Amino acid sequence: MSFSNRKILLAVTGGIAVYKALELTRLFKKQGADVRVVMTKSATAFVQPLSFQALSGHSVHFELLDTEAENAMGHIELARWADVFVIAPATANTLAKMAHGLADDLVSTLYLAATCSVYVAPAMNHAMWNHPATQANLKILQTHGVNFIAPESGEQACGEIGMGRMAEPETICRGVLQTPAHYDSFRYAGGCNLPLPLQKSGVCKTPLRIIITAGATREPLDPVRYLTNRSSGKMGYALAVAAQQAGANVTLISGVTHSAPPLNCHFIQIETAEQMHAAVFENLENCDIFIGAAAVADYRPIVCGDEKIKKNANQITLTLQKNPDILANVAALDSPPFTVGFAAETHDLEIYAREKLTRKKLNMIAANWVGRDEGGFERDENALEVFWQDGQQSFPMIEKSTLAEQLMALIAERFHAPK
Ligand code: PMT
Repeated sequence: MSFSNRKILLAVTGGIAVYKALELTRLFKKQGADVRVVMTKSATAFVQPLSFQALSGHSVHFELLDTEAENAMGHIELARWADVFVIAPATANTLAKMAHGLADDLVSTLYLAATCSVYVAPAMNHAMWNHPATQANLKILQTHGVNFIAPESGEQACGEIGMGRMAEPETICRGVLQTPAHYDSFRYAGGCNLPLPLQKSGVCKTPLRIIITAGATREPLDPVRYLTNRSSGKMGYALAVAAQQAGANVTLISGVTHSAPPLNCHFIQIETAEQMHAAVFENLENCDIFIGAAAVADYRPIVCGDEKIKKNANQITLTLQKNPDILANVAALDSPPFTVGFAAETHDLEIYAREKLTRKKLNMIAANWVGRDEGGFERDENALEVFWQDGQQSFPMIEKSTLAEQLMALIAERFHAPK
């Protein structure tokens, strides 16, 4: 999915986060969107409009009654032109005007005139964010069908620490990108106001954090050779895309593959099982769902010399050391994420899958046949038998991209199911 042919109206209101809106403009353009920028007067105190003009390729709009030839598109035309209206950063003042229907500048007037979907990335001091007036305004805006991209917690420009820092441009871009284009006109139908399956509900639909492992690990024998397996990473990468589209914030930890990593996910490339184990544990904080789709080598050569092994002997013996079981170690944490394993089997699929589900204390396991003529490793299609403690579901042979969407929908359903 991309913004190809989508018309994005970006309103920039006055706060220190205005500088991040420059990067947001660049990201929207990079995804193929046509972007027009509107600025409030106070926003121009932080960044020159010329910067937005250069990045968007259009002159910037400020005035409600604009008579200049270049800016001749009036506020109603601008509002009709847009497929998506994004307000980033959105100050407490702008949110208040929007909530109460004021129309005393171009941005607030456009909000009233726009019938497309609206995304708001608030940015303000934490005390302003937490003030009952702001929180009440957010609730009103939610009833208008506005989509929020939650601010983040951390050190603020004023030096204080708390919630209110505008989300990073990549997060905002992903938030807008993940809503399919056909939702654009559904603002008042409430289509965009429902959390996506992998978002937390609430005023701000915060994405769930998902870690996915994918591909094969490589276990070095010497400086030029390694032990590996047939995993291409296709299944894990398809899951990463499907999870993003369902609203999640995805970290993809992958062995070396021939596939390009999905756009906008946090991508970490590793080679060995030990490196994958370390990368998973370094990123586990606040992880809601862990999915182990990687084909991790169960064993590694106990010695990996600095020199190439010579072929003098007719036979050589390799001694292998067991690798850490990443999936089992994640599930064994005191408060583990919702943990989903895969099982790749050549026989007795259900028996082995159920045994792994129980032994590794998983929430769910997706089992697939490997070593057959269709599905499994390397191919573009796959079929899955999914098991959890009190249920199971079959997914017949289909493209991995579609299968990944179906599996993510099931994972979201099980994740949200009452415990
Ligand atoms: O990558 P593709 O070419 O698209 O192929 C997809 C796939 C067949 C690789 C994928 O669908 C799949 O089945 N992945 C898991 C492969 C596997 O290693 O299964 P397993 O039954 O050996 O391992 C069970 C589970 O434990 C897996 O979730 C695995 O990631 C995990 N594991 C295993 C060993 C280990 N040391 N650490 C682990 O985390």
